[in-house]
Amino acid sequence: MEAIATTQSPFETDADTVAIGVFEDEGVAHDLPGDELMALLDSGEAQRKFKRLAVTHSQGRRIVLAGLGDRTKFDAERARVVAGLVQGRAAELATKTLCWEVPHHVGDDVVAGLVQGTALHAYRFDRYKQSDDDPDPFERLVLSAHHDVSEPVRIAEIVVGAQNRARDLGNIPANDLPPSALAGYAAELASKHGIEATILDGDAIRELGMGAFAAIAQGSDQSARLIRLDYDGPGASDAPRLGLIGKAVTFDSGGLSLKPAASMYEMKFDMCGGAAVIEAVAALAELQAPVRVMGIVGATENLPGPSAVKPGDIVRAMDGTTIEINNTDAEGRLVLADCITYALREGCERLVDIATLTGAVVTALGRTYAGLMSNDDEWAHTVEACGRDTGELLWRLPLHDEYAQMVKGRYAQLTNLTQRREASSITAAELLHHFAGDVPWAHLDIAGTAWDVRRSYIGRDATGFGVRLMVEIARRLAADQSPPS
Ligand code: BES
Ligand code: MN
Ligand code: ZN
Repeated sequence: MEAIATTQSPFETDADTVAIGVFEDEGVAHDLPGDELMALLDSGEAQRKFKRLAVTHSQGRRIVLAGLGDRTKFDAERARVVAGLVQGRAAELATKTLCWEVPHHVGDDVVAGLVQGTALHAYRFDRYKQSDDDPDPFERLVLSAHHDVSEPVRIAEIVVGAQNRARDLGNIPANDLPPSALAGYAAELASKHGIEATILDGDAIRELGMGAFAAIAQGSDQSARLIRLDYDGPGASDAPRLGLIGKAVTFDSGGLSLKPAASMYEMKFDMCGGAAVIEAVAALAELQAPVRVMGIVGATENLPGPSAVKPGDIVRAMDGTTIEINNTDAEGRLVLADCITYALREGCERLVDIATLTGAVVTALGRTYAGLMSNDDEWAHTVEACGRDTGELLWRLPLHDEYAQMVKGRYAQLTNLTQRREASSITAAELLHHFAGDVPWAHLDIAGTAWDVRRSYIGRDATGFGVRLMVEIARRLAADQSPPS
């Protein structure tokens, strides 16, 4: 889907369908076919209540009249919701080009929300289906406003495009996206956008001493990959280097601590954090954002092959820490531990890791908020604020020395399985905290938000959660550092 901005009126564009929103207690803008639409509202067929839709025809176009509800409650998230609903109705009516009349007196965030909601709802993952299922796909979105909205439209289109590509990576089954394929994809994307890609294979990972990461990889005959993406934007030399670290377990069977069969198939999604990192870096490069980022993605399968790591095995992580692996299904934290050490050695000064790490975070927060854990209040507040602004909500859970004590090992320094199965999202974070030390670090547990959120603009497939968020974090970090202009 392509998105473009115009200052033409919707009826001057070549759109076959026009979307017009109406707030409660307000009329239809005077420059639209006001009388006809007002009549529709007066008759009750169209309503101003949020999410109500009505369809009519005027001036040779289809019109979708959308209730926007209370103006004071209307924000970017509501824009995504209503735009998703409108896209659905428009597509049912065989729309190819939809023009949204941008409501008057709204900010750029709402304009971006309309683009995002439309593109996220229009997304299809149908590459494994017969190609003639959807003969007339939705093609184009035009945003019509009195003032120039081309910049927010351009940014939103780039970022949501990256988010939809992250959804593709999540939805592709594990047989078609082993670590080598994910790395190949990342390298190709990087070369397209002027990003420097460095790919380490299983041997290189072992040679670097990443014993925790390598232990998980050894149960599969698919070799692991560490994917590193460096992007230094123009004029970003003063910005602290941001490390974005993603878990990409391309399939998590649980290893010898095998998962039950019922929902194991969902574990193709266990690489969604890594996918979000790859696409966030790509979006930043496409935006030519003045940021310094290093994406680090730990890609491996977690399988119970003949060489698989065994419960009770003790491994040595890259920084020398010894870890007892008492449950091979708590694999993500082992992969991430070495990626964090790697990020610090390579000069990252702020860290964000993103991972489908624990089932417990789904129990705690459901699919509305992702878990946020951090060793630094200021960094946590920045990250949390970015989530509020992008609509990828984060709820902070505490760290505490008592939790840290729970990951102390019996035979080794650390264990990946606590004695009591309590606060498991937090104890997983405490294991990572050991490796991050005092460097400002934020851990995002997206096990609940990476797929199956069933929001009105995203259904049951992968969500691409974290792409918009990490783009925002990187831009804000760089902006906070640069002197006011
Ligand atoms: N990838 C899973 C976490 C997960 C579970 C994500 C369900 C999404 C939905 C992770 O590797 C895992 O298996 N975690 C275990 C840890 C436990 C063995 C300490 C968990 O959460 O049960
Ligand atoms: Mn697991
Ligand atoms: Zn996992």
